[in-house]
Formats: sequence, C-alpha cells, structure tokens
Amino acid sequence: MKILSKLSEIKVLRSSLSGPVGFVPTMGYLHEGHLSMVDAARKICREVFVSIYVNPTQFAPTEDLSRYPRDFERDCQLLESRGVDYIFFPSDADMYPDGFQTYVSVQELSRGLCGQSRPDHFRGVATVVLKLFSIVKPDIAFFGQKDAQQCAVIRRMVMDLNLDVEIRIAPIVRDHDGLALSSRNQYLSTEERRAALVLPRTLQALRERILQKQVSTQKAVQDWFMQEIGTESCIRPDYISVVHPLTLKEMGSWKPGDGEILVAAALWVGKTRLIDNQLIDLGNPGSS
Ligand code: PAF
Repeated sequence: MKILSKLSEIKVLRSSLSGPVGFVPTMGYLHEGHLSMVDAARKICREVFVSIYVNPTQFAPTEDLSRYPRDFERDCQLLESRGVDYIFFPSDADMYPDGFQTYVSVQELSRGLCGQSRPDHFRGVATVVLKLFSIVKPDIAFFGQKDAQQCAVIRRMVMDLNLDVEIRIAPIVRDHDGLALSSRNQYLSTEERRAALVLPRTLQALRERILQKQVSTQKAVQDWFMQEIGTESCIRPDYISVVHPLTLKEMGSWKPGDGEILVAAALWVGKTRLIDNQLIDLGNPGSS
C-alpha cells in the first residue's frame, strides 16, 4: 500500500494504471462502515484508492472541524489489512491553495433536510468530491447510504456535470445496539449513547408501521418521531422527513406501489448531531 500526498505524484501514478479504479473518499477515523465500502471496491476493482481528508469547506465556523477525530496511523493499518492499494492524504494547501474561489453547488438538493441547519455543507461536499474525482479519476466511487442526502447530491452532480464515474451506494452498517456507525459516535458519553438509540429504534419502528400500512402520512411520521424523541431529556430533534430518495422532495402521503421512499432524520444528543435513515421499498405499481 502506498501513501500519496502530492497531487503531482497521483498524476504520474494514475496515468500508469489500468482500471477499473475504485475510490472511497473519507474523512478518516475509519469504522466498519468505511471498510465495507473498501471491501465492495476490492471485490470489483483492480486498483483501490481511499482518500483521507477532513474537508474544511463542509464545516460551518461553529461546527466541529478542529475537534473532528483523527488517527492516521490506525486508519493506515486498517486500510492495509483490507487490501487497499493507495491512500491519498492531501494537505489543505494543496486542496485549497491561496486564491481558491470555485465552488460547486447542487442547488435544490442541498437546501432541505440537513441543508436547513447546515446551509453551506453540501456546497463544500460537492466541491471537494469533484476535486477528488478530478485528481483520482476513479471509474467507480463508493458512498454510504447513512449520508442519504450526500448520495443524492453526488449522484445529481455526476449527472449534471457529465462526470465519467459510476456511483455505488453501500448499505448502512450498524453497531450491535443498532446505532448507525459514524466517526462522531465517539463524542457520546455512555449516557448519551444510550439515549441516542432512540434514533435507530424510532426509524425501525416507523419502517415496520409504514410497511404494515399503519402510517402513511408525513404528519403521522412527524408526530410519532416527536413523541418518541420527547422521552429522552438530552435529545433535541433537528428534523424528520419522508422524501423521494433521488429528488428529496417531501411526500405528503404514500401508498403501496410508490417505489422507494426515504425516511431521514437528524437529532442532537447533547452537543453531537447524529443522522440516520431508512430506505423503504413500497413496491412498484401492479406488484403485490
Ligand atoms: O462522507 C464523508 O466522509 C465526506 O462528506 C466526504 C464524502 C469524504 C467529502 O469530504
């Protein structure tokens, strides 16, 4: 496994590689969610790149950029053990040199859900992902379903800008207690972690009720969520919404045959913001 940090090194290397080249962009502090994407890439790609870069432009000044967890040594060991070929570990100076002023904004998809409380977040994500794609030139790039809005934004950007890369989405990986894996879970105290379980529990309960046709309106989902979240004193809700997974348009109601719907939610546990979602298949018209 080679670690590359200079853009010039990647350029020379990339021109010597034949594909398919798989790419997993990350901000490091890796967990089994990231590693499941690495495994998926390893299965189908000849060369596997992982980037480790905590991208400053996707954090607001009030957010956790400076305390975002980092452990480069451990990340390298994990990636080596999963058979990664190349780690790209760029510096801020290389990614955002003096005078940098070009951003990509996937406009409508960036506004709702997490975009309401993180207005510039997806502009930062789309910009850095486009830059990483231009540098690594992957044939296939892997993203995690936990960041469902990020997946929709990246897919749209790839379509709108005619990028020659296939996007694959890996399922959410959960801890033994149901909490979706996230580098931010390590901020939680023992008590906060217990309280945080209300998020996967409520989403799982909603999934079952939606599939059993007991809940079929946005309002019923919102009411259920607020009632469940209200039982935990250190939790503040951010949002819950049922949307179309690709357009992220909010759905007032749904019925069997409506295809896939996404129930996405975010909440605060103390100072930590967590997100999670359930992608639910209601089948296609005519299917029983
Ligand atoms: O999902 C992440 O870890 C980040 O948003 C990404 C895609 C690596 C861009 O910084």
